[in-house]
Amino acid sequence: MNVLVIGSGGREHALTWKISQSDRVTHVFTAPGSAGMEGCATCCPDVGTGDPAAIIALAQKESIGLIVIGPEDPLAAGLADQLRDAGFAVFGPSAAAAQLEASKAFAKDFMKRHGIPTAAYESFDDLEPALAYVRGRGVACVVKADGLAAGKGVVMCATVDEACVALREVMEDRRFGDAGARVVVEDWLMGEEASYYAITDGERIVTLVAAQDHKRALDGDRGENTGGMGAYSPAPVFTPEVERKAFEQVVVPTIRGMADDGMPYTGVLYVGLMIDASGQPNVIEFNVRFGDPETQPLMVQMDGDIVPVLLGSAQGDLDESVRLAWPGASVCVVLASDGYPRDYPKGVAIDGLAEDGTLERGDDAVVIFHAGTRRAASGGFETSGGRVLGVTARGDDVQQARDRAYKAVSEISFDGAQHRGDIAARALGR
Ligand code: AMP
Ligand code: GLY
Repeated sequence: MNVLVIGSGGREHALTWKISQSDRVTHVFTAPGSAGMEGCATCCPDVGTGDPAAIIALAQKESIGLIVIGPEDPLAAGLADQLRDAGFAVFGPSAAAAQLEASKAFAKDFMKRHGIPTAAYESFDDLEPALAYVRGRGVACVVKADGLAAGKGVVMCATVDEACVALREVMEDRRFGDAGARVVVEDWLMGEEASYYAITDGERIVTLVAAQDHKRALDGDRGENTGGMGAYSPAPVFTPEVERKAFEQVVVPTIRGMADDGMPYTGVLYVGLMIDASGQPNVIEFNVRFGDPETQPLMVQMDGDIVPVLLGSAQGDLDESVRLAWPGASVCVVLASDGYPRDYPKGVAIDGLAEDGTLERGDDAVVIFHAGTRRAASGGFETSGGRVLGVTARGDDVQQARDRAYKAVSEISFDGAQHRGDIAARALGR
């Protein structure tokens, strides 16, 4: 079977890498993909994620048996629906179901309706009532742009004054563009975050290992929110008891609730959780696709074939008895451009990579996933995005995976490169 992966970032590279190892797969294509993925797939740089007609033409030409959609934007725009209508097996939810991520107000109202644990909140289309709400509530809160904002549309506000400033920035100044036409204001939850993944065909469910992302730009969880500066799995905070609660109180009611509401959910449900001191998970967000960069450690740690699970979700015959194995641990450290998550330069030469984009001084336990690179005119690779590389290693435990990842990081360089030095540190002190 030939498989087509839609997208071009580190997550899509990780999925492509894993899918290409399946015995069931003849060839993997990516659209648009990137030069760093060419070791495991044929890239189709002229086919963009926002061009359904070109994707359908490519899928027909290459006899694609499964299409895996990586990013949220095309899902929210209805790409899965269009590809399914054209007769393809598609991994990823419909536009209706993708509202779980595309509208925070939709997700919060859905959770309230179905009794899924999450922070107290209100949604607003106008500034004055939003200001009145934060003043009246008088607690630390989080101001969120309703729409998609590449993981950055969230402002954490320790005081009422900060919240008022944030509301003005988001609603009046449109700091996150039209995503901020509506805002959700919710209570600031305390605890430790983890993300949990469930693959479903709308009815049957296979869960994956939990991971922990590092969203802030700087060590010690300081600085601005980013798309994610590194991740690791498994997450020690996610004990079997927490997992049981997350499955029973969040995953099952979400998938049943979406079906009952007439929007059956298929694909992967990414549940972002805050786990409080008593071990109670509360939902911070839903995403309707794999995490980036969490997918990088997930795919590197995973033992077994992911393709039957993706295909089962796409075809509506997911085998729930499949048990995916997650031996050891994996850690991904993101190398980002100078200035990310704000403005950053492009076209900066990268040292330390081989001609095929792998680590020059190879180590089997380390995989370099390309997030924002392109081939330089002079050969080699140069930067082309904010997050540039996801340096990912597996190990017997977090310590070993982490040591390997940071050793590899030290062998790669480009001007202005930034990375966090404390990825997975929290897992070690336990
Ligand atoms: P979101 O885009 O909703 O996932 O939010 C991005 C990040 O902001 C999350 O990963 C959390 O670190 C933080 N965050 C969002 N909502 C809350 C909340 N209610 N309480 C505490 N932290 C939050
Ligand atoms: N790493 C966070 C996300 O994928 O949304």
